[in-house]
Amino acid sequence: MRPSLVARFPDVYTPLLQGFLQFSLKGPFALNSKEHSATHAAYQFYATAAFGMEGIVASELRRLGLQDAKGDVGGCRFTGSLEDAFLCCLRLRCADRVLLVLAEGTCLTFDDLFRLTGSVPWQKYLTRDGQINVSCKCGRSQLMSISDCQSICKKSIIEQLRKSRGQDVFPESGVPFPIHVHIHENHTRIMLDLCGSGLSRRGYRTWNGEAPLRETLAAALVELSPWRPGMPLHDPCCGTGTLPIEAAFRAGHRAPGMTRTFACEQFPFVPKERFCEIRKQVESEFEIDRIHSISGSDLDPEALELARRHVHQAGLDGVIQLHLEDLRTLTMQEEEGVFLCNPPYGERMSDRKKCAELYAALCDLMRRNPGWSLCAISSDPDFERAFGKRADKRRKLYNGRLECQFYIYLAPAEKARAKRRKP
Ligand SMILES: C[S@@+](CC[C@H](N)C(=O)[O-])C[C@H]1O[C@@H](n2cnc3c(N)ncnc32)[C@H](O)[C@@H]1O
Repeated sequence: MRPSLVARFPDVYTPLLQGFLQFSLKGPFALNSKEHSATHAAYQFYATAAFGMEGIVASELRRLGLQDAKGDVGGCRFTGSLEDAFLCCLRLRCADRVLLVLAEGTCLTFDDLFRLTGSVPWQKYLTRDGQINVSCKCGRSQLMSISDCQSICKKSIIEQLRKSRGQDVFPESGVPFPIHVHIHENHTRIMLDLCGSGLSRRGYRTWNGEAPLRETLAAALVELSPWRPGMPLHDPCCGTGTLPIEAAFRAGHRAPGMTRTFACEQFPFVPKERFCEIRKQVESEFEIDRIHSISGSDLDPEALELARRHVHQAGLDGVIQLHLEDLRTLTMQEEEGVFLCNPPYGERMSDRKKCAELYAALCDLMRRNPGWSLCAISSDPDFERAFGKRADKRRKLYNGRLECQFYIYLAPAEKARAKRRKP
């Protein structure tokens, strides 16, 4: 078991437990509001997640020791130190971004938005030459004009900096500060994005191929499937290799953000030395020898070439086996395992009839390999009919904007194991 956050950072969390932290729903949001710059203060964060994945991200956060993580629409809130948030940037597999919440409140008018934005002590966060990049999302609110909201927020930040530190010139030639403003049902959150590019950018993908799966969604499918590290996993239509790579990251305790950088590493108020130590710790946890029996195949040689490049760039050469094969002829050597795949849906790639034939071929694949479970994501509402069987479990997820179902067919042995696990 991982030691609790209190054990790891006693100087941060003991006061938190003693009830020393108080926060208001309106106003600047570092919880230890006496000292925004104190590196050991506990802050409010928001990890954004694709619709339907909030619960998965909340569980991930709790596994990282952030016990107060709570999912809501579009993400999860949690409290922690800046170090915790950096660890989340490195380790979260299914979240899109980690944001530091700076102010929160109800905004019905532009004046409200101007005031709320101006309540943040921006001088404690932004450098004099920092790029102030405001991006806004509005939904079901009085304030719905994204461009107006963005310019109001930026004006308010500049005015606050003018007043607080007498700054007249804003060259914006330095470090970027990505500021996110979310307005949903008039509830407004002003947040600083700690990531820069989204967490789905693992740093290995340079070629996209046709219809690749988002890495964060691929990680969620790995998590929801019956596969656990040590078991064989095979993607029979692996395309550019996203699913086997995510499974290998998990098996090897390889933090998905290990080889990329994050916007927050350049922020002036973060404890940079601690961040370096955290990075080193995360790097030392990667054990390639833990990765066994993860493989993929595809009938498209170009897709397979991309998968090989991605495996190489992810540092996983030799531990993920890839080969060219039509899944209609595929038979596995191992008696038991999990097929995990993202077959074509007939939306973007081939037509529906061809897809129906392929879904039937997936059922045959399972018959030829009776010890193997099979999990597939598809937006095709006729998937189960074409497959020829109702799934043992299914779950609604979104692939981009496409509503999909994740179908899980358990092998008889896995079904028996699942029954035994239930009390
Ligand atoms: C939606 S893409 C998979 C994308 C992949 N998950 C990724 O992230 O790159 C579907 C893949 O199925 C492959 N495919 C289609 N029919 C196949 C078949 N009969 N056997 C093996 N692969 C097949 C296609 O070549 C394509 O690469």
